[in-house]
Amino acid sequence: MDSKKLIEESSRYIMNTYNRFPIVLRKGRGIKVWSFNGKEYLDFVGGVAVNILGHCHPRVVVAIQKQAQRLLHVSNYYHIEPQIKLAKLLVEHSFADKAFFCNSGAEANEAAIKLARKYTKENISPDRFEIITAQNSFHGRTLATITATGQERFQKGFEPLVPGFKHVPYNDVDTLSKEITDITCAIMLEPIQGEGGVKVPDPDFFKNVRDLCNKHNLLLILDEVQTGMGRTGKFFAYEHFGITPDIMTIAKGLGGGVPIGAMLASEKVASGFQPGNHATTFGGNPLVCAAAIATIETLLEDGFILDQCNRMGEYLQERLENLKDKFPNLIVDVRGLGLLLGMELTTEGDPIVRACLEKGVLINCTAGNVLRFIPPLIVQKKDIDQLTKVLEEVFGRP
Ligand SMILES: Cc1ncc(COP(=O)(O)O)c(C=O)c1O
Repeated sequence: MDSKKLIEESSRYIMNTYNRFPIVLRKGRGIKVWSFNGKEYLDFVGGVAVNILGHCHPRVVVAIQKQAQRLLHVSNYYHIEPQIKLAKLLVEHSFADKAFFCNSGAEANEAAIKLARKYTKENISPDRFEIITAQNSFHGRTLATITATGQERFQKGFEPLVPGFKHVPYNDVDTLSKEITDITCAIMLEPIQGEGGVKVPDPDFFKNVRDLCNKHNLLLILDEVQTGMGRTGKFFAYEHFGITPDIMTIAKGLGGGVPIGAMLASEKVASGFQPGNHATTFGGNPLVCAAAIATIETLLEDGFILDQCNRMGEYLQERLENLKDKFPNLIVDVRGLGLLLGMELTTEGDPIVRACLEKGVLINCTAGNVLRFIPPLIVQKKDIDQLTKVLEEVFGRP
């Protein structure tokens, strides 16, 4: 079957929820992917910040193969060895004391919302349930997480939404403090707004938010689904800000390419969940946990990959800044941290993304006019040089 026929069958048999580019991807290694037709692409999308170690990292692949031969799935009615090992790894390398496993970022956020409400009702006040989130945020596509998401375009048509959410401008602690009331239970934020256009807060923003939470006895929930797992150059982005959250959600890079999410919390807050309060059949299953253990061990081993992420992040940012100097009418801003970088344009980003695809480089556009670069953390200088060469050609077209 050729790729044209596959694409026809894709539209015939798969629900129309994605605007897909007209290629079928079939194979990946490191930072490269190949289409069904054998064309090679440099992948600066990385499964939308998922493939932190690149495609098919050998340690992840072997861990999956070994676990698949031993045990694929058992119920959470029983203790699961790889799940215990993974929870221990995450706890040992974060603020958290306990983990709950699920299958995606949205599910991790659902779990966080439920835990925040339950813990607060039982331990602080039965009247508190409202969660304040940011305008322009993104927290997922379930009904509660589209409500938490501060962007109407994701909510339209799905009303009535879930009660108990309020949105305030991101990076504005004064407005945030004015919106806290007797019914507020938690503040939920992304350390950097990824889908919202790679928005980086002021250095003291999270310290001020933490102080507000302490003052009003509110929980701080950090959505590190996109920023976690080394993406910003530290294992978790909150480490940049000198604070710790009460609850944190992760997914994307956690499994090195397999679907797994987690909600982490302090001992005190985690006590809000008791048997029967929350569950999911596949959450923390042996296969995905084995992949996540291999991913984390590889990521943290001797600090090499985090170091690479920092160095390559700086290099890429520098190269993008150079392009900004060359094309001042087209590029408004370059921003981000580590390998979560954005380039804001004065025009729509989609034609640029399509032109780069034609030239063998996959990039992504978010918020309409922000090109986003979220490659595997193992990206090298030569890959970045190729990307910027292609961008320069595309920007310089008549
Ligand atoms: C910050 C953030 N939270 C949550 C999600 C939702 O994650 P998932 O698509 O795995 O449900 C995303 C996905 O892009 C995200 O960037």
